[in-house]
Amino acid sequence: MSQDAYRLKSPSGKETELPVLSGTAGPDVLDISKLYAQQGVFTYDPGFAATGSCSSNITFIDGEEGLLMYRGYPVEQLAKSSSFLEVSYLLLHGELPTVDELADFESTIRRHTMLNEGMLSFFKGFRYDAHPMAMLSAVVGSMSAYYHDKLDASNPQHRDIFAHRILAKLPTIAAAAYKLNCGQPFIYPRNDLNYCENLLQMFFAVPAEPYEIDQVAAEAIDLLFILHADHEQNCSTSTVRMAGSSGANPYSAVAAGISALWGPAHGGANEAVLAMLEEIGDVSQIGKYVDKAKDKNDPFRLMGFGHRVYKNFDPRATIIRKMAHKILGRLGRVDTPLYDLALALEEVALKDEYFIEKRLYPNVDFYSGIIYRALGIPTSMFTVMFAIGRSVGWTAHWREMIGDSETRISRPRQLYTGPAKRDYVPIDKR
Ligand code: SDX
Repeated sequence: MSQDAYRLKSPSGKETELPVLSGTAGPDVLDISKLYAQQGVFTYDPGFAATGSCSSNITFIDGEEGLLMYRGYPVEQLAKSSSFLEVSYLLLHGELPTVDELADFESTIRRHTMLNEGMLSFFKGFRYDAHPMAMLSAVVGSMSAYYHDKLDASNPQHRDIFAHRILAKLPTIAAAAYKLNCGQPFIYPRNDLNYCENLLQMFFAVPAEPYEIDQVAAEAIDLLFILHADHEQNCSTSTVRMAGSSGANPYSAVAAGISALWGPAHGGANEAVLAMLEEIGDVSQIGKYVDKAKDKNDPFRLMGFGHRVYKNFDPRATIIRKMAHKILGRLGRVDTPLYDLALALEEVALKDEYFIEKRLYPNVDFYSGIIYRALGIPTSMFTVMFAIGRSVGWTAHWREMIGDSETRISRPRQLYTGPAKRDYVPIDKR
């Protein structure tokens, strides 16, 4: 990292040098770690829109160019030529696997898909209509109660087994939540199926009859997981890093990340997009809802639009939009009112001055739900699907954070705007 510096001069004339650090790509950063000690001031950046929380070798986004790359590989190339488990290996280990490394990794993941039977009994305690994200975060958090014997973050084998368990078991936990919601018996994973085939059969197989895997659906889910796998220091990944920075076990850190992802401003947006499209209902209503989204006094936002980093097309949205058309066609879905409505809404919004001026484009969540819906996955499971894909990103960032010599417990400061110091007033004097 280069050692240029910005020179800061306080109103009283005191000078401080802020070293400039440069990465492989993207903006330089100012190292402000000495600022408070030398100038007695903090920086102020609600939402951390202009703050780098760490250095990372995993993923890079160029919001102006609409570029996303995992370990240097553009997501378009990985979407075209790779698989979710190969991308998972890349994110976890930094390099694409050899044939043997991939075969070994896939075999390891397959052999960790089952849950402890005690963990399955949790699902008997949830209400039948519990939101699957609530069940996912609860059951993932409980994993540290089952695997407490391998939680030594300083042990590379423990870090690996954690990664394998999270990646392998999330689809099984998700399927158990889905089966509870639809009142069907839990379906055990099968080691003769690949990652996405297994997910489909755990979701949709029933004991009463054989289940035939739909390869179109399996390929579509694999591609969606690649596109959702990682995304720099987004809200949920930063939550995992922050929780892990205290030394909390990685299962608890990932459970915290799942909770952060659930918010409609983040991963919960894919569920909110479908609700919004159903509320809009018809292309004749698009203008009314676009106007609501532009109205400062109306809390309504166009879900699936806008992004903290992308001020151009989210490359994932572009790929998913193209894929939606192909998948719907290959699934024989000729009646695609929601997809047609989404295309029409995008067309209107992208021509609207408000969206152009604020550089609001469709993001990853705008089209993904339409594909999940076409695959028979209910809206309540959309963010769970996002969590399965992102689980490898959370895991890769937790491992990087643990191995980073610069890691300290995350503890931001604040601008205090509360009451000045005052004395206690006895209740009879108030
Ligand atoms: C994800 O960080 C990541 O990388 C996230 C993610 C990942 O892979 O991890 O990419 C996944 O979370 C995608 C985003 C999903 N969320 C949504 O689709 C919800 C709708 N979008 C917004 O709430 C919003 O765009 C955010 C949350 C995505 C971004 O919020 P920012 O960066 O804090 O931007 P902002 O809220 O300050 O908005 C800037 C302006 C505001 O207007 P002004 O106050 O400047 O007048 O744009 C407006 C906002 O009102 N605006 C919108 C809008 N999004 C922003 N107006 C209408 N509709 C919208 N969707």
